[in-house]
Amino acid sequence: MALKTRFTETFGVEHPVVQGGMQWVGRAELVAAVANAGALGFITALTQPTPEKLRAEIDRCRSLTDKPFGVNLTILPAINPPPYAEYRQAIIESGVTIVETAGNKPQEHVDEFKKHGVKVLHKCTSVRHALSAERMGVDGISIDGLECAGHPGEDDVGGLILIPAAADKVKIPIIASGGFGDARGLVAALALGADGVNMGTRFMCTVESPIHQKIKEQIVENDERATDLIFRTMRNTARVAKNAVSQEVVALERQGATFEQVRELVAGTRGRVVYETGDPDHGIWSAGQVQGLIHDIPTCAELIHRIVGEAEEIIAGRLGGMVAKRAMATA
Ligand SMILES: Cc1cc2nc3c(=O)[nH]c(=O)nc-3n(C[C@H](O)[C@H](O)[C@H](O)COP(=O)(O)O)c2cc1C
Repeated sequence: MALKTRFTETFGVEHPVVQGGMQWVGRAELVAAVANAGALGFITALTQPTPEKLRAEIDRCRSLTDKPFGVNLTILPAINPPPYAEYRQAIIESGVTIVETAGNKPQEHVDEFKKHGVKVLHKCTSVRHALSAERMGVDGISIDGLECAGHPGEDDVGGLILIPAAADKVKIPIIASGGFGDARGLVAALALGADGVNMGTRFMCTVESPIHQKIKEQIVENDERATDLIFRTMRNTARVAKNAVSQEVVALERQGATFEQVRELVAGTRGRVVYETGDPDHGIWSAGQVQGLIHDIPTCAELIHRIVGEAEEIIAGRLGGMVAKRAMATA
């Protein structure tokens, strides 16, 4: 059995489940495991220090799976931006056929990808940005509600409203993102008008995720309150795992700190050390409210098959049963 949606049809994958880009986590072993289980995984381009290294990572992923997979290209405002055009070229020349774009003004990248027959799933956090990406010609939208790890935007709209609001207006396939971790979430997303779900935090906490075991155990231990929103005062909000460093950043922001004053605390290199050494208080690391629904560390195959299998049971069993009962009651 399988769940067929506009997403599975358009992107040519078996299951309506996506593993979105994750800095320091979206590497070949995780992405290949997701692909081998029939879902869509994205290598995170900027985790690789150079476009050349990205080419090598794509090759490594190909040696681990013969199923389709994609690459995430996150376009962030930066004083010294990475060479985006060169990363894009590496993706196109490596023969990757699906890209997840995220961040600001992706038009130039979307145009180039489309010219080379690459399918684009654009991740955004508001209906207006979803509509603007649709006009740019992307093939699907991934829309992140306030629950998500990473950047939820500044509108503070949760998935329960954001997903159907997007579904009312967007015509192309929609992936619901932020707060998804189990079959109930997938069924809810489909009911709200989405064509599948994207999961970050849940995939971080799998056997194949290339981070320290202690961080996976910390995610299992954490509940739904174990996140902080940092950079609120700078209008660049990020949801991260609550720890000593995130609490310090929030406290400093309350006192009116500038980015310069928190720069050392939030350094990406410190976050990377968290994943390498397993010390959850070494720096800032991303995780979402869905931590409250994560109770184990399965393989990607176990996780995906469990979610899809249980979703089918919920739809055909529990929900289908409710419809039948009503029909009998009125007969
Ligand atoms: C550790 C981590 C790193 C992330 N890095 C990126 C990134 O570099 N680019 C991006 O577009 N999204 C990034 N995200 C966001 C995810 O792709 C996804 O949108 C988000 O995790 C969904 O919310 P969830 O964690 O509740 O599933 C990251 C998420 C996590 C957990």
